[in-house]
Amino acid sequence: MQTFRYAKSQIAIHWLAAALIVFLLVTGTFVLAELPNTPAKTGNLRIHMILGALAGLFVITRIVLRKRLPAPPSSAGDKLARAGHLALNLVVLLLAVSGTVLALQSGAFDAVFGAGSLPEDFRQFTPRQIHGLASRVAMGLIALHMLAALYHQFIVKDGLLARMGLGSRKPDRLR
Ligand code: HEM
Ligand code: HEM
Repeated sequence: MQTFRYAKSQIAIHWLAAALIVFLLVTGTFVLAELPNTPAKTGNLRIHMILGALAGLFVITRIVLRKRLPAPPSSAGDKLARAGHLALNLVVLLLAVSGTVLALQSGAFDAVFGAGSLPEDFRQFTPRQIHGLASRVAMGLIALHMLAALYHQFIVKDGLLARMGLGSRKPDRLR
């Protein structure tokens, strides 16, 4: 029964990852990027690095689960949805990888978890440009993803959010 939903593990990890990613995007933009690289910044950076790596692991877990578990029956606009989900997964992975490379290359990793000091400014490093750009692309994709979900839920009225555990489905409307 209930094959129209993703598995409980997939639903849990989707919402955990979503909350984490929104937190990282907001605090990254409005806190981290605004702070000068003084030693006082290392606490913030530590949280960002750990949670950022966790977000990357969530996405990998999600991709593995998606391959292993039977998928719920496809929804309307399936091709577009698949392309959108692929793009979302890729951009979050790119954020985790570019962030990690930046931390290693700039010495921030040592400063935060060891004894080094922070670079004067992260912006001199190419992975920082990639990380910043990817964060803006992620914001755009997430906004589109939310709009698409809300469009299905409230305009098409096909109960799409039930696939991610919210509410009940309208069986005749979801293919
Ligand atoms: C904020 C970051 C978010 C990311 C990165 C994200 C990513 C994804 C991905 C990759 C999928 C495909 C399923 C999977 O691979 O596990 C998915 C499905 C879904 N998401 Fe999100 N999501 C986010 C937030 C949201 C929000 C805020 C909503 C609700 C407004 C939402 C509603 C859904 C729904 C309903 C599905 C199932 C769609 C279908 O099966 O066609 N997501 N999401
Ligand atoms: C999904 C995961 C991640 C998200 C959503 C994310 C998001 C962000 C955002 C929005 C910014 C500010 C960009 C700007 O305003 O230009 C930022 C900066 C940064 N992030 Fe991440 N990040 C993630 C993962 C990581 C990881 C894994 C690391 C390192 C291990 C990392 C290290 C950094 C560093 C060093 C900065 C620069 C801060 C500065 O310029 O002062 N990030 N991140």
